[in-house]
Amino acid sequence: MQFPTEVLRVLTDPRTVIRDDQVSVPFEIDRPVYEQLNKVLKEMGGAWDGRKAVRAHVYPYRIEEFMRQCLAANDYPSKYEQGWFPTPPALVMQVCDLAGIYAGMTVLEPSAGSGAMAGEIARRGGIVDAFEIDSRRVEILREQGDARRVVHGDFLAADPLDYEEPFERLVMNPPFANGLDHIKHAIGFMGENSILVSIMSQGLMWWSDKATVEFREMVDEVGGDIQKLPDDSFAVCGTSIRTCLLFLPGYPGGPLRTHEWHMRQPRQLDLFAAA
Ligand SMILES: C[S@@+](CC[C@H](N)C(=O)[O-])C[C@H]1O[C@@H](n2cnc3c(N)ncnc32)[C@H](O)[C@@H]1O
Repeated sequence: MQFPTEVLRVLTDPRTVIRDDQVSVPFEIDRPVYEQLNKVLKEMGGAWDGRKAVRAHVYPYRIEEFMRQCLAANDYPSKYEQGWFPTPPALVMQVCDLAGIYAGMTVLEPSAGSGAMAGEIARRGGIVDAFEIDSRRVEILREQGDARRVVHGDFLAADPLDYEEPFERLVMNPPFANGLDHIKHAIGFMGENSILVSIMSQGLMWWSDKATVEFREMVDEVGGDIQKLPDDSFAVCGTSIRTCLLFLPGYPGGPLRTHEWHMRQPRQLDLFAAA
């Protein structure tokens, strides 16, 4: 979405302070402009902290680089767009601990957002490959430099066979609207000894459609687990979405359509290829 003209003027004013996780405007602006500004900053995931020592919109993640990209493009994604909710730091730690990420491991982050999980994986010595569909978040990921490779594109269109080796770990917080599609697709990038950990909508625990029921059965069969996360896990992002945590281990010879499974499939003949 485009910034309203007056909001863009205020945010690009040299007196406006955009630092770390905060945006503050230390000068007078008209009430209608303030209201528009407040709306935009909240839509981007900020919350007003009116304490005297703060007096800023505060974000549950570092907004500085991201805001710079948005202002340069005169475009910002609403937090409801493409399911973008940056993973809160405590949950990032929980996911990385559960995945057991050690130095030198290859890790796939298929919906990397602005890099909350990719940053922590890299800090632990993991070698991260990231996918992200939104071009501004891709720029941020590239600027942060935590990933070995950042692919700008639709992860669901990525072919596991473009990768010679599976990833040892997969950590994800996919868009909640079609999270199960992302997880099922990601299984194609894991090996029979890999581990996938994903944050998902809590519906994964009780949805009764055929795809979800079969998926839960498969999780059981391979010794995986789905745990409910506290209801306020994403409260810092201004959303009350209820989530769970999926732990899915590879299972040699089991039902998962892993990278090895894809490698074993006969290659389809391209009958229409030009001679
Ligand atoms: C819930 S956020 C994930 C945030 C990130 N994992 C983190 O740790 O903060 C989901 C992200 O997936 C991206 N996304 C949505 N559909 C996608 C797709 N088909 N391929 C790649 N990325 C996608 C969105 O742009 C958004 O940034």
